[in-house]
Amino acid sequence: MAKHIVVIDGSPRKGRNTDSLCNAFIEGAEKNGNTVYKFSVSGKKINGCIHCMGCYNNGPCAQKDDMIPLYDELEKADMVVLASPIYFWHITSQLKAVIDRMYAMYVAKRFKPKDTAFIVVSGGADHSNVEEALSFYHNVVIKRLHWNDKGVIEATGTSSDSFDLTPYLEKARALGESIK
Ligand SMILES: Cc1cc2nc3c(=O)[nH]c(=O)nc-3n(C[C@H](O)[C@H](O)[C@H](O)COP(=O)(O)O)c2cc1C
Repeated sequence: MAKHIVVIDGSPRKGRNTDSLCNAFIEGAEKNGNTVYKFSVSGKKINGCIHCMGCYNNGPCAQKDDMIPLYDELEKADMVVLASPIYFWHITSQLKAVIDRMYAMYVAKRFKPKDTAFIVVSGGADHSNVEEALSFYHNVVIKRLHWNDKGVIEATGTSSDSFDLTPYLEKARALGESIK
């Protein structure tokens, strides 16, 4: 059955590595009739959670910023794809802000179990650059939220002059096509 997929692109740079991998995933996923809502943090105003407890009372979130349209999409979603470049050996602060703000849905028990996937991009070629981010994905997204892992795309070494994104774009497209 066709799914509704939310892709959250945590890169502030449009048209670069993470964004291109998200688009390749989306291209593949749409081939099977899935619908996709892409949310890029680029140019958006997303405050960090301020622990005001507003979501415990009236919900979903007291802060009115660019997160608002994402809440409805997340509620409808059967799958959430998280994508991030590595900044200081972790996901970007922009993506972390989006995830923290999902707390408003978590508290309201509006987070039904979903499929998930992770796209991670690092300048360094060494796998150690992406370890913290992968551990966050496995220990928080999969173990704590109980979402089902559908795959990880790990594109490392983008800082190298010889780096070629093409094989990773193919992997991302194939991952998208595998979602049915
Ligand atoms: C502030 C900052 C911190 C970074 N930290 C790391 C890092 O710890 N390890 C690494 O491998 N690459 C690091 N990078 C490189 C990016 O992960 C890399 O350039 C990536 O391809 C950027 O993704 P984008 O093209 O989607 O913006 C950093 C880049 C920036 C701007």
